[in-house]
Amino acid sequence: MADKPLRFYLALLSSFLLVNSAMYPVSVASASSYIVYMGSHAHEEVPSGIDAYHQELLVRAVGRQEDAEGRLLYSYKNVINGFSAVLDPHHADRLSDMPGVVAVFPNRAHRLHTTRSWEFLDLEHSSGARSPRSLWTKANLGEDVIVGMFDTGVWPEAESFDDDGFGPIPSRWNGTCQTGMNFTTANCNRKLIGARYFLKGYEAVNGKLNVSSTGEFVSPRDKEGHGTHTSSTAVGNFVKGASIFGFAEGMAKGGAPRARLAVYKVCWPGGCYDADILAAFDAAIHDGVDIFSLSLGSGPPLSNFFSDAIAIGSFHAVSAGRVVVCSAGNDGPTPASVGNVAPWIITVAASSMDRSFPSSVVLGDGSNYTGASLSETRLANDSMYPLVYAGDARLSSANESAGAMCFPGTLDPTKVKGKIVACLRGVTPRVDKGSVVKEAGGAGLVLLNQPSDADEIISDPHILPATQLSASQAQYVLKYINQSRSSATAFVTFPKTLLGAKFAPQMASFSSQGPNSLYPDILKPDVTAPGLNILAAWTEASAPTADADDHRRVKFNVISGTSMSCPHVAGVAALLRALYPTWSPAAIKSAMMTTATHHDNGMQPILNGSMEEATPFNYGAGHVNPNAAADPGLLYDASANDYFLFICGLGYNRSALTNLTGSTDKGCPSDVPSLLDLNYPSFSLSKLTGNRTVSRTLTYVGGGPTYRAVLRPPRAVGVEVVPSQLSFTKLGEKQTFHITFWPRRRHEKGTASSFQAVPPPTGSPVVDNDTLTPSSWNFGYLTWTDGTHLVSSPIAVIP
Ligand SMILES: *[C@@H]1O[C@H](CO)[C@@H](O)[C@H](O)[C@H]1NC(C)=O
Ligand SMILES: *[C@@H]1O[C@H](CO)[C@@H](O)[C@H](O)[C@H]1NC(C)=O
Ligand SMILES: *[C@@H]1O[C@H](CO)[C@@H](O)[C@H](O)[C@H]1NC(C)=O
Ligand SMILES: *[C@@H]1O[C@H](CO)[C@@H](O)[C@H](O)[C@H]1NC(C)=O
Ligand SMILES: *[C@@H]1O[C@H](CO)[C@@H](O)[C@H](O)[C@H]1NC(C)=O
Ligand SMILES: *[C@@H]1O[C@H](CO)[C@@H](O)[C@H](O)[C@H]1NC(C)=O
Ligand SMILES: *[C@@H]1O[C@H](CO)[C@@H](O)[C@H](O)[C@H]1NC(C)=O
Ligand SMILES: *[C@@H]1O[C@H](CO)[C@@H](O)[C@H](O)[C@H]1NC(C)=O
Ligand SMILES: *[C@@H]1O[C@H](CO)[C@@H](O)[C@H](O)[C@H]1NC(C)=O
Ligand SMILES: *[C@@H]1O[C@H](CO)[C@@H](O)[C@H](O)[C@H]1NC(C)=O
Ligand SMILES: *[C@@H]1O[C@H](CO)[C@@H](O)[C@H](O)[C@H]1NC(C)=O
Ligand SMILES: *[C@@H]1O[C@H](CO)[C@@H](O)[C@H](O)[C@H]1NC(C)=O
Repeated sequence: MADKPLRFYLALLSSFLLVNSAMYPVSVASASSYIVYMGSHAHEEVPSGIDAYHQELLVRAVGRQEDAEGRLLYSYKNVINGFSAVLDPHHADRLSDMPGVVAVFPNRAHRLHTTRSWEFLDLEHSSGARSPRSLWTKANLGEDVIVGMFDTGVWPEAESFDDDGFGPIPSRWNGTCQTGMNFTTANCNRKLIGARYFLKGYEAVNGKLNVSSTGEFVSPRDKEGHGTHTSSTAVGNFVKGASIFGFAEGMAKGGAPRARLAVYKVCWPGGCYDADILAAFDAAIHDGVDIFSLSLGSGPPLSNFFSDAIAIGSFHAVSAGRVVVCSAGNDGPTPASVGNVAPWIITVAASSMDRSFPSSVVLGDGSNYTGASLSETRLANDSMYPLVYAGDARLSSANESAGAMCFPGTLDPTKVKGKIVACLRGVTPRVDKGSVVKEAGGAGLVLLNQPSDADEIISDPHILPATQLSASQAQYVLKYINQSRSSATAFVTFPKTLLGAKFAPQMASFSSQGPNSLYPDILKPDVTAPGLNILAAWTEASAPTADADDHRRVKFNVISGTSMSCPHVAGVAALLRALYPTWSPAAIKSAMMTTATHHDNGMQPILNGSMEEATPFNYGAGHVNPNAAADPGLLYDASANDYFLFICGLGYNRSALTNLTGSTDKGCPSDVPSLLDLNYPSFSLSKLTGNRTVSRTLTYVGGGPTYRAVLRPPRAVGVEVVPSQLSFTKLGEKQTFHITFWPRRRHEKGTASSFQAVPPPTGSPVVDNDTLTPSSWNFGYLTWTDGTHLVSSPIAVIP
């Protein structure tokens, strides 16, 4: 009902935009697109004529009615207040001073952060039986929770989105099934209950989407595959016999298979733009999405809260009681690379599962090295093949490093034909190197990790027989080739599917890491979940590799990234939402964080990609443990107002902020609480120069009734909790405790020496080099326990 005028309006705008480019070539040339953010609507109800008001501001900024025509991209008018438009920089300046405007920022691109996983998370026994303890059982598989995926769209024919056995669409659903290229209302059903696409922000920067060169669909249909994969991971039905080329065979399962799916296509070839993302948030909050899953974002330098559509949109979603889950990014192992760091977001890192796809290289000297691969083709098994190092098989026109990494057009077919080629990992996509080798006539590929890749091995659906080896194994292979020269030979074995691999989880090297470069006193990421070699549904419009020359089509694909771990957590959030309909987003996040584990399946500490102990900067509070999250005992809850005060605490105070959450009488109070006191389920103190006391409030939801604090202080830091024991009398009761930290000399035990007084709370934190260096930080844990429940929080401190 609500969508018809909006769609009409959007259609109208598209035609304006076309007219505009022709009419104002000069001004458009110097213009870019901006988002004008105005907080919430001042009163509960959206004022009628809000688009006229946005239009009026636009006219005032550009000067004349005629000049304003065709500039507007979106008027955000459901929940979020504001608009996006094509503007000159001085128009943008002018707008930022107008009444009600909170911030004006450029429309920039974010990147995509490119099933056995549920069994590994202990929702199901290997027999397929579910225990009554399983969150799947308790939450009835996420029945009727609505999960919104912001991604590349969906392949609606995938079995994962069949609606067999689903009841009517929940009546609170306000969304729509937006039609377009190869997408009709018949593509939505009682499972895939809504789908929309948002393209104006993309086109304002890149010009009209070239449908013929990209093969894209101007509709919610997924060309890329990423959105189909993430959607089926979060909420896909159980599908029997899912596999890629026969590997990983089993049942494909989403986290909350009885939840409903709503798709918001905001990503196009070249990026996911702020203006489109914000429009999708504005629609999805109003549509009634309960859980938002965004496998996209940007790495450092991070935009501050008021220049980031994901931070703003998620703030409004969380303020409306919805849960927002985002990927941490794939910029690891670089420290301080984590993105999507706002405290109201659940930020997800990626780690391995206990399933691998081993494939070995046997060398002519009899030695063999086991890597991994998902290539579906085999070498003829009766002989060894000549083995050549790509750097030695390059064309004379190519330089050594480009040849060694098998860049397109660098290999000499006469030196490669019929041979297995050893290429170095790096710069170009891993599967592209296989295509380069195949094109040059090679028989197989050995993909060698470089030292920076460490032991992380990603199983890719290579286009020819191939395997990937760790950096240490790569050294032996290179040495062998160097010694044997032209007599070097090798064989690549066909991959197997191996279950029960120790030690899992292990952090993926690519998973972006803390510390948090924007708000170092909020520990990020929050949790980790499976993100390595994940099997899920795929588009039938593209190959399993992103290679245009790969003409294979598959119904399922195995891919890796924090993009894959994010929807796992969104699925768990949907289950918790089904089980506890009244819990706040912060409560759901707290339940997942405080019950997460720091140990692998060998009961050893979780390791990083170089087989060293990982830290909370890798995994946050740990690896999600859904069954435990269903019974957390205590919660660190937080309200929309707490997050509002956090924004005040960043030092941002102007009158326009009174409109941020939609209640007109609420500006920043004069005594803003310290950022450290945000009721977060972890502790991060980037500046500990003396005694520092922070407070937290726990909400009692089970167990006990008495909980006591168990401390594992970080090295060189004293920690005290007061009171150290809390007794609750009734469910829902809240109690506050204080935790004091102080730097301690190396050999000092027990008592603290004298240090200067506690510094006053600062406004916006100043992030210096020391803060961004992981080795400056020490880690510990605070755990509240009643003997059964463990309510655990990581502590990170620079002493
Ligand atoms: C709040 O928004 C309304 C319009 O929605 C505007 O008239 C008012 O000036 C804004 N308040 C402030 C303090 O900017
Ligand atoms: C999309 O629709 C066009 C026109 O009906 C058709 O030719 C094409 O095959 C369709 N593409 C896909 C991937 O379904
Ligand atoms: C779209 O791409 C095709 C193929 O690359 C090209 O021939 C065509 O000129 C492009 N169209 C526009 C409008 O750029
Ligand atoms: C659906 O739309 C109505 C009318 O605009 C609104 O009152 C309601 O809050 C919306 N539902 C949800 C779940 O947001
Ligand atoms: C690799 O070597 C081990 C012995 O070191 C042997 O047991 C195994 O069969 C070999 N694998 C292959 C594929 O040759
Ligand atoms: C070798 O290949 C032949 C034919 O391609 C096949 O029948 C045989 O099973 C293979 N042997 C092994 C050990 O893979
Ligand atoms: C090698 O060639 C590639 C592209 O072919 C280029 O990007 C790179 O800068 C070159 N490296 C050196 C060291 O010249
Ligand atoms: C190859 O071996 C020679 C000595 O035999 C050594 O000097 C050279 O550094 C080696 N090259 C590589 C790439 O390992
Ligand atoms: C693993 O941790 C060690 C020690 O902190 C560090 O030196 C190494 O770079 C880390 N490796 C990765 C891949 O994160
Ligand atoms: C923010 O501004 C309001 C009025 O503009 C003022 O009352 C309040 O004290 C300010 N808060 C801070 C923390 O400066
Ligand atoms: C810091 O706090 C601890 C624990 O409350 C206390 O023992 C110590 O005396 C305090 N030190 C200073 C300098 O205040
Ligand atoms: C921080 O590090 C950068 C790069 O390493 C350096 O250029 C800069 O001077 C450093 N700043 C401080 C304050 O040490």
